[in-house]
Amino acid sequence: MTENGQSVRPLAATVAEAVSRSLSAALPAAAAGIGPLVRRSDHADFQSDVALPSAARLGTPPRAIADTIAGHLNADVIASARVSGPGFVNITVTDRSIWSQVAARADHERVGVGRPLTGERIVIDYSSPNVAKQMHVGHLRTTIIGDALARVLSFLGATVIRQNHLGDWGTQFGMLIQYLDEHPAARQQADADTPIEALDRLYRQARQKFDADADFADRSRSRVVALQSGDPATTAVWAGLVTASQRSFQALYDRLGVLLTPQDVSGESTYNGFLDEVAAELTRLGVAVESEGALCVFSAGSTGPDGKPVPLIVRKSDGGYGYAATDLATLRYRVQTLAATKILYVVDARQAQHFELVFAAARRAGWLPDAVEAIHVPFGTILGADGKPFKTRAGSTIPLAELLDSAVDRARKVLTEKAPDLDADTLEAVAEAAGIGSVKYADLSGSRIKDYAFDVDRMVDFTGDTGVYLQYAHARIRSILRKVPAAAPVVDPGLPLHPAERALALLLDEFARAVTDVAETLEPHRLAGYLYALAQAFTTFYESCPVLKAEDPAVRQNRIALCELTGDTVAQGLDLLGIAAPERI
Ligand code: ARG
Repeated sequence: MTENGQSVRPLAATVAEAVSRSLSAALPAAAAGIGPLVRRSDHADFQSDVALPSAARLGTPPRAIADTIAGHLNADVIASARVSGPGFVNITVTDRSIWSQVAARADHERVGVGRPLTGERIVIDYSSPNVAKQMHVGHLRTTIIGDALARVLSFLGATVIRQNHLGDWGTQFGMLIQYLDEHPAARQQADADTPIEALDRLYRQARQKFDADADFADRSRSRVVALQSGDPATTAVWAGLVTASQRSFQALYDRLGVLLTPQDVSGESTYNGFLDEVAAELTRLGVAVESEGALCVFSAGSTGPDGKPVPLIVRKSDGGYGYAATDLATLRYRVQTLAATKILYVVDARQAQHFELVFAAARRAGWLPDAVEAIHVPFGTILGADGKPFKTRAGSTIPLAELLDSAVDRARKVLTEKAPDLDADTLEAVAEAAGIGSVKYADLSGSRIKDYAFDVDRMVDFTGDTGVYLQYAHARIRSILRKVPAAAPVVDPGLPLHPAERALALLLDEFARAVTDVAETLEPHRLAGYLYALAQAFTTFYESCPVLKAEDPAVRQNRIALCELTGDTVAQGLDLLGIAAPERI
């Protein structure tokens, strides 16, 4: 096995470097500031479009430039370079270089990927549900997307600090605790083992009373003051609500197979002690000003639909702090104490303006230096089959556990038809992995910002661009490999390549690129799309190139190595998306 931190250099990078060298050697006047513009191509292995901008710069016909660049290309890996069209350089690499690449990746414990993000400290704020309320489908998305990003960034070497910004503070607790106080029967239910569904019901009852009964609303407000000043009895009830909610959330995280643990919870209440200081400092700096009794920050460009400036309310006119003040204190803490170099907020697109205002205020206060990036990573809404935001007929949100159950039920049904030989225990385990994996894949395989419909029949389909298709492709590769001796195959780089082997191997060479693309764009669908293409390339290869039945033992060995590398790459890719890859289906 190759040393862990070292990466296997992709062929595309070697080719790109050769193009850059050729350009600087042959046409130094054109070279400065022009990248090699190399990409995969249908006409050859790679294509460079560098002649086009160079021609524009030199005032020479692009074909002549392309000829010159092709003529000066000089690298061991290059077999030929031909010019086509207006001035494209089509580059074919040697079969030997491709097999050597397969061998190097197959022998690397991270399928060739290095750790380019070493040294970065990235905070990811994700999941962040609210105490005493059910998680809604929006929380499902932040949990799945945030977790995939956490996995990818840490795989690439960054130190990732997961922060579950639990909604465990605010005026709603006054109402809840007061209600419990006045309804002993309800109070008995609200211990640490209370399921979130019961708390959710309680929340709705308390809210109803709060809206209907002005005296109760007043008593609730006094209760908030009691909570904020640390009254022991009030605090104890609050702590019970938080514990019970957290337990329910953690059960869901465990079922989803996300990385979040109780240690990652850093809820809103954590920052309560800093809010006075935050308000005072913003005032002293002149960043926040009094407006109609409230303390507000107005930032350039923050206007609402009516053209009026939208304030970020740090302190309400009744003296209370809210969501915004907490986010400012949190941001300051993440920069000053956690020493983050980057902070990602994986939160619903509807909160875009909130984050714009928070980041702008923090920049002005000097809490967010230029060197630190704060990024809102927004996502769209999950819709029902009717194309409207996903709700039950009665209009309430659907418990996430129920959604997952429906996907697992569907997976069980499909598997019973597709894999009738599975014994009962394996069927259960695989159905759970396939159902959950498919829900996650459906979320991660589309562009983040788009809305999508929650449709279990489409999600759990063995033949489409789905999680279970990829899991099945992976299990099929493993089943092929179970039929060969355990020893690592020895790749013979001297063999000619079949076109299907070539296509598969060149795609395997792009894995690191797909993973770093996710880190750069924060779009997990780049990796999902890559894995789908890889599974398809494997199918084409397997249909046209016999593996176990290959007559020449050297050919057989090379093909086994391709199977192994594909299996490991798909498994690694699925793991980065947080999707299980069972060995058998
Ligand atoms: N609890 C909030 C909600 O459910 C999400 C919190 C997101 N994170 C943050 N730092 N504001 O909408």
